[in-house]
Amino acid sequence: MAKTKIQYECSACGHLSPKWLGLCPACGEWHTFEEKVAEKKKSTKKHKVDISDNGEAEAVALKDVQQSKEERVSTNLSEFDRVLGGGIVDGSFLLLGGDPGIGKSTLMLQVAQKCPNMKILYVAGEESASQIKQRADRIGMSGDNLLIYNNTDIRNVISQARKIKPDLLVVDSIQTVFSSELSSLPGSVQQIRECSAMFQQIAKKEGITTLMIGHVTKEGDIAGPRILEHMVDTVLHFEGDQSQLHRLLRGVKNRFGPANEVGVFEMRDTGLHEVNNPSDLFLAEMNSSVSGNCVTCVMEGSRPILIEIQALVTPSNYSTPQRTASGFDQRRLSLLIAVLEKRAAMSFAGQDVYLNIAGGLKINDTAADLAVVAALASSLKDKPIPEKSLYIGEVGLGGEVRRIPFLKQRLSEAEKMGFKHAVLPVSKTASTSKMNLKPADQIMKAL
Ligand code: TYD
Ligand code: MG
Repeated sequence: MAKTKIQYECSACGHLSPKWLGLCPACGEWHTFEEKVAEKKKSTKKHKVDISDNGEAEAVALKDVQQSKEERVSTNLSEFDRVLGGGIVDGSFLLLGGDPGIGKSTLMLQVAQKCPNMKILYVAGEESASQIKQRADRIGMSGDNLLIYNNTDIRNVISQARKIKPDLLVVDSIQTVFSSELSSLPGSVQQIRECSAMFQQIAKKEGITTLMIGHVTKEGDIAGPRILEHMVDTVLHFEGDQSQLHRLLRGVKNRFGPANEVGVFEMRDTGLHEVNNPSDLFLAEMNSSVSGNCVTCVMEGSRPILIEIQALVTPSNYSTPQRTASGFDQRRLSLLIAVLEKRAAMSFAGQDVYLNIAGGLKINDTAADLAVVAALASSLKDKPIPEKSLYIGEVGLGGEVRRIPFLKQRLSEAEKMGFKHAVLPVSKTASTSKMNLKPADQIMKAL
């Protein structure tokens, strides 16, 4: 019997190697090689590259290029529209990624619910039609405009799409669709590459707006080849902590609008609800009379959001004190503690330090540094921060409070939320605010 030949394939780019490799030489990813049975080569003849002209396209001067005005369709979900840049562009090709159970399928159902005039073809590879019906009942939709298709063979999907000509084709998920011409399993790099290339044709050549739902790997990337993200016009990430109610829809790439824009939803019993004022949501349970709580304002896309930072500094029972951060970079926390020790003469030796961003949000805006420093100092001294005070500013290694972008927007958000005091970097732009401002160039002056 012939021995089966084993090959190793990079799960990120599809590069093949006869041996297992730690680093992919083609795409530079680590630990992506997986074992697979080698496919038999159909032909050993080498293809010659044909460079003869087939006379199809002519180069055009940029000034003569006709600009097509993209048609946008509003989804009537303002948080979704905001991330897309005003609505779904006709004939565009989108990818929505997120952890399992985060609410991707629910979001797409709600788009269908909010757009009764939009004919939607929903390719359901993950769930049966009756499971989808159950979910639709839960969110209270009738779904006259929604057609469920429970077949994931790409040829059948494409022919259905051609026949029905939907306004929106939703593929839930790209990992379940397969081409029977390939021997690899659904979800493999070749299958995803092949099937998404076909959907791209459907979107670009036939003008059927297509949205693919994609799984996310442990690292948070969309599973499958990297080229998937290059192929599509828009990449959206749906994220959030499953133990929390809020969900963030983030535009990671957008050819037709602003990238990095964020939409906020809350997952309730009756589906996703839009949160038009996220600051309200994140400050809802704030208790200003407790030491270690401090409010700051972070930018999510073009949107200022007020959040509460909580610090707890307690005597340690360990020989090496703990430094734990949730929702905030642990190394930055250590850095800020070191700055406080050196520049503000505070000692955290023998103290455990815990830092938490209330509501389970993850932040990486350095404008929150000053609030972290203030929260740490407040907990160490056990002295609460005055009510309705905002702390914003980046902290440098010399203990200086550095300027931050979007100062005006952050201050006006705080003002809108009824804040009275703000501690901020020294800057001219802030002078229009009606709040009681306390500019500080050093952390010693801010605390
Ligand atoms: P789902 O849309 O199936 O997630 P995904 O497609 O991203 O895997 O959402 C599933 C989760 O959402 C599930 O844990 C139940 C919860 N959920 C609610 O809390 N309320 C609701 O109204 C619905 C429809 C789902
Ligand atoms: Mg789903």
